[in-house]
Order: sequence, then structure tokens, then C-alpha cells
Amino acid sequence: MTRHVRTAIFPVAGLGTRFLPATKATPKELLPVLDTPLIQYAVDEARNAGIERMVFVSHPSKGAIERHVMEDARLTRELRERGKADVADALTNAAFCPRDDDVRFVMQTEPKGLGHAVLCARDEVLPGPVAVILPDDLILGPVGCLAEMIDAYETGKVGHLVATMEVPEDRVHRYGVLSGVEPDGVILKATGMVEKPKPEDAPSRHAVVGRYILDPAIFDALETQEPGAGDEIQLTDAIARGADSLGLGGFQFSGVRFDCGSKAGMLHATLELAMDDPDCAEVLKSRGLVSSRTDAVAA
Ligand code: G1P
Repeated sequence: MTRHVRTAIFPVAGLGTRFLPATKATPKELLPVLDTPLIQYAVDEARNAGIERMVFVSHPSKGAIERHVMEDARLTRELRERGKADVADALTNAAFCPRDDDVRFVMQTEPKGLGHAVLCARDEVLPGPVAVILPDDLILGPVGCLAEMIDAYETGKVGHLVATMEVPEDRVHRYGVLSGVEPDGVILKATGMVEKPKPEDAPSRHAVVGRYILDPAIFDALETQEPGAGDEIQLTDAIARGADSLGLGGFQFSGVRFDCGSKAGMLHATLELAMDDPDCAEVLKSRGLVSSRTDAVAA
């Protein structure tokens, strides 16, 4: 069985209720951190990791995501005619071109959970393990999280690898949490994981954040997965069922993760990136917000 990761799945069908009214007409994945929408960071991370096929699991009401990620020949032509070739080039480089890039869109019309969203992509994935990227979890650092995760996955230690970070006890109820954790190099071997446990029931503080590399057996597991937390088909539960037979590991990534599914996380990410922009850094300074880089974010 090949360990080469060729496909990335982007579950983007969610309604984004936590950001209403901003997300009434704009998909939450298009909310910007400074000037770049969340989905663009996720796509760039997958491209930099050498992913060949991108599968977006979207919703019919969120056509703007497709319009954002695909090239817009009319817009770039108009920009060039107006002498803005540099802007046109930047847009073209960031977007997918239907001729050269392998991009698929499938629809998840019912909100049945993250596990169900991944299952919706089944017929579109290339052979071998698949990556799943949740654009809400923005991970910034000198090396892309997915690229370093793929390197770790290729060492062949586990069948399912999930990105993980330690969170305070009072936050474990927001995450999938690893159980039976034993360090093994960069990987934390685990015997299972549970979705959104109460702090008193949490098996560890090793929370899962939105990057996964999954053995293709995940699709069979998802086909038969019963609804779990929140009455949804949980990816966590299907991963946990394969922990014994396939091996499960947590990957401690080197970057900093921002929870851009929350207002506080969005603000944190925006402030972080604002420090690199001279005009914005000036504003931060004028408000007495001195530059101090983020070490770890568990918001
Ligand atoms: C999802 C997963 C959860 C994971 C989290 C990371 O939850 O179900 O296991 O820890 O993403 O962001 P959500 O935040 O969609 O409720």
C-alpha cells in the first residue's frame, strides 16, 4: 500500500453560524485574515505539500468558494487592461486553472457532520491515504503543517496521523482528544480518540486540530459510522475505530495554530499577520500594542 498522499479534502459546507451576520451571504472560509481569505491559506498549504488533487466538500449556497479558488479570466484580463498586471499575476498564481489543476467539488447538502463530509469525497479521491484540511484552523510557520506532516507520515509508523497540540483542561471539550498517548519521535502514538469530552472525562490534553492524514480504510469506517457527539457522524469516531488495526498517531506540528472558527482566534491571527505589514504595524504601535510574537495559541 502506497503511503504517498495525493489528495486533500477540504470540508467547507458548514453554515458558519458563529460568525453571523458576517456569514449570511459570505462563506466563513472566505473571511479574510488581513487581506487573504482562510480558504486561500489552506489551499496554499496543500499545494506547498505537493498535493495533486483538491476535493472541496461544499454546499450549494456557497458557490463563492468555487469562484474564489478558480481563476477568473475576465477579472484578470480587465486588471491587465487597466495596467494592474502585478495584481492580475498574483491572482492567477493563487488560483486554480481548470486546464492544469485537478480540482473537484462535491456537495454535502445536509449538515450530518465532519465524518459525513469526508465520506462525501469518497468517489473523488486518488488511491492511497488522503489529507483533510479544516480551513478554520489556520497554522502559520516557516514550514507548512501539511508538508511536515506528510514527511512524518511517510516514515510508516501509523495509518492515521492527526495534528495535535496541548490545550488547557478547560478547553478539551471543544476538540477531539487523543487517549493512551506514548511519544515515539515526532509522533505521539495513541490508542484512541474521543470527540469533545467533558474535562473530567478527557483522556489527555492532546487536542486534535484540523489536519489529518488518513488511511483509505477511513471511508469504509465512515460508511458504517453511527452518529456520535451532537448527533453527527464524527470523523473522530471513525478514526478511533481504526486505531488498533491501522495505528493512530498525533503529530506535534512546529507552527502556531489559530482557531479562526472563533472571533478571538480570528483577531489573534489578524494581529499576528498585521505585525508583518508596515501600515498595520504602525496602527498596532499607535494603540500601544507592541510586537510580541505568539508562541502557542489554544484559544
Ligand atoms: C472539529 C473536529 C474536532 C477537532 C476540531 C479542530 O470540530 O470534530 O475533533 O478537534 O475540528 O478544530 P469543530 O471545531 O468543527 O466542532
